[in-house]
Amino acid sequence: MEYRKFELLYPQDRIARRIGELGQQISDDYKDKNPILIGILKGCIIFMADLIRSISVPMELEFISASSYKNGRVASDQVVMGENPDVSLSNRHLLMVEGVVDSGKTIYSITEKLKLEKPASIEVVTLLDKPRCRKVAMNIKYVGFDAGSDFVIGFGLDVDQNYRNLPFIGKVTE
Ligand code: IMP
Ligand code: MG
Repeated sequence: MEYRKFELLYPQDRIARRIGELGQQISDDYKDKNPILIGILKGCIIFMADLIRSISVPMELEFISASSYKNGRVASDQVVMGENPDVSLSNRHLLMVEGVVDSGKTIYSITEKLKLEKPASIEVVTLLDKPRCRKVAMNIKYVGFDAGSDFVIGFGLDVDQNYRNLPFIGKVTE
């Protein structure tokens, strides 16, 4: 395979600290709400594994699959989504968990689909946000870091399905 050049953007200790803060904030906000955290595969996995262990209130875990980036760094406009979780979402507090929000199209499409189930609330937590790349307006309540307009990899995020296993976040420099 072809190796990509990248620079370190966020080291492991900094990510861990920030996830701890997000977990604390979510625990405060969702006390007595028994939220369902819905991970958006596959970019959520590392972040979600750490996040849920820093949440100290009862919560449930579900996943939904979505993909929009077909080839490397070039986005396709079509978001391909899997099935909704097969538990009832009606009247439940949903918190979607994403690795990175870029154009906002993925999270927008999933939100619209989940709204049909009449949940009590829907919010989003993302490890990385790229607000300047937004093409659809989306309000993201919990953000780990601003990634500017950089293409980022590691900690669950890929280029062509590789680099998800890097334990830190890097930015691709080529
Ligand atoms: P959006 O629909 O444009 O917001 O893109 C969200 C999806 O695109 C994410 O779930 C990622 O899979 C992918 N993506 C967007 N930006 C990046 C990036 O910088 N690195 C890796 N994947 C990205
Ligand atoms: Mg991807």
